[in-house]
Amino acid sequence: MQIHETIASLRAARADAGRVALVPTMGNLHAGHIALMTKAREHADQVIATIFVNRLQFRPGEDFDSYPRTFAADCEKLAAAGVEHLFAPDESQMYPQPQSYHIEPPPEQAGILDGEFRPGHFRGVATVVMKLFQIARPDVALFGKKDYQQLMVICNMVREFNLAIDIVGGETVRAADGLALSSRNGYLSAAERAEAPRLYGVIADLVTKVRGGARNYAELEQIAMQLLRLNGWMPDYVALRKKLDLQLPSAHDSGLVVLAAARLGSTRLIDNLEV
Ligand code: PAF
Repeated sequence: MQIHETIASLRAARADAGRVALVPTMGNLHAGHIALMTKAREHADQVIATIFVNRLQFRPGEDFDSYPRTFAADCEKLAAAGVEHLFAPDESQMYPQPQSYHIEPPPEQAGILDGEFRPGHFRGVATVVMKLFQIARPDVALFGKKDYQQLMVICNMVREFNLAIDIVGGETVRAADGLALSSRNGYLSAAERAEAPRLYGVIADLVTKVRGGARNYAELEQIAMQLLRLNGWMPDYVALRKKLDLQLPSAHDSGLVVLAAARLGSTRLIDNLEV
């Protein structure tokens, strides 16, 4: 695997790489990321992974500084997965001067759900993803469905800017007890880790009820959040939404997804499940 620390180096390698799949990450790779790398291989001649902890998508007081940085272990995993290129720039490559132009996703997509609790987050994500697209010029790019709203924002950005990039979503990879794999799981204490699968349990239960014909969505969301609170969580939201645009569904809409975000101790976890 070739490791590129500069934009110039990646661009030179990309020039004769054929059809390229890009898998952007912030590192601390787990089996969910590696599943994306494997899927990327089905779509392209060469796979470019990126590792860059993007300051722009963190709010003051969030975990930018403490975000786990495990570069050597990540490189081993990517090489074992057969990834051809790793783009691992530092901030002087990505932001040689403060970024003054941004991609501003519309508030109805980026100001709801996670965007309500992390204002500016999706602006930071969309801006860095657009930069990575310009740098790597991929034919296809892959993102995990665990960050469901992120995937929706990126799909819409690509469509509205007429980018010639296919966006492919990868299924969420879970631990045996249901917990969605996430770099932030590493922040959990042993007791919190034992409790953490409840988030998945609560949304799986809600999905079962909706599949069974329940349509009292607001009440089901409240019950789910109350159950989390009773078990020591601080939920930001449990929300049943339309898959396409994450807007509120009416009783006869199909194509739904349940999304949740909740804090367990100082760790904020998110998860979702399509109905
Ligand atoms: O999902 C992530 O890890 C990040 O949001 C991404 C897409 C790499 C942008 O920094």
